[in-house]
Amino acid sequence: MKPRYLLRSMIHHRMAASLTALLIALAFTLTTGLVFAQTATTPKLDVPYVPTPQPIVDKMLDLAKVGKNDVLYDLGCGDGRIVITAAKERGARGTGIDINPVRIQEAKQNAKDAGVADKAEFKVGDLFQSDFSKATVVTLYLLPDINRKLRPQLWKQLKVGTRVVSHDFDMGPEWPPEKVEKIGGKTLYFWKITPENKKSATALAQLSK
Ligand SMILES: C[S@@+](CC[C@H](N)C(=O)[O-])C[C@H]1O[C@@H](n2cnc3c(N)ncnc32)[C@H](O)[C@@H]1O
Repeated sequence: MKPRYLLRSMIHHRMAASLTALLIALAFTLTTGLVFAQTATTPKLDVPYVPTPQPIVDKMLDLAKVGKNDVLYDLGCGDGRIVITAAKERGARGTGIDINPVRIQEAKQNAKDAGVADKAEFKVGDLFQSDFSKATVVTLYLLPDINRKLRPQLWKQLKVGTRVVSHDFDMGPEWPPEKVEKIGGKTLYFWKITPENKKSATALAQLSK
């Protein structure tokens, strides 16, 4: 091959190699970017989103006798319906916590639409990392194992007399409910935090040291 053609062929080879490297880098960036975007917008849920039907929400609030002096926390609040109903129908203040930012955006909009944005607050957060010690009422619609995992935190954080209502799931044999109500194929459980619960929380904290 003449030196001129040899040089041209070498240049073509180099350009093709550089182009391939560029394409690989671009594909890598797009893929990792996509994976990052997906993990950033889809948090790991301990419980899937299933909203409590409105008649059951009303019954949960009845069971806890929610009134205007209450501070209600819904842990895993979904679209905010329990906190919003407590604010709108009973005059209570409330906070909803959900790990999914999409749910919190919906809840904030629903509170605005219902005219209770001043009483109903919503925060993105993991319920296991949250401070709900100001609550006088806690509502839950989680799962049996998540309720049990949460139990020591409820005992530790909540004041004596705070009411806890759970839709469909109990807290295990270590914490039998004070009341159980059945409505339309659903079961509601009710507890009140007692001085014994606080002692158990202290004992558990000692054990884990
Ligand atoms: C069954 S839904 C209940 C929604 C609402 N409380 C209701 O009764 O209509 C459970 C909610 O918990 C949220 N969730 C799941 N894991 C969570 C966690 N670790 N911390 C906070 N929220 C969580 C989900 O995003 C979902 O909105």
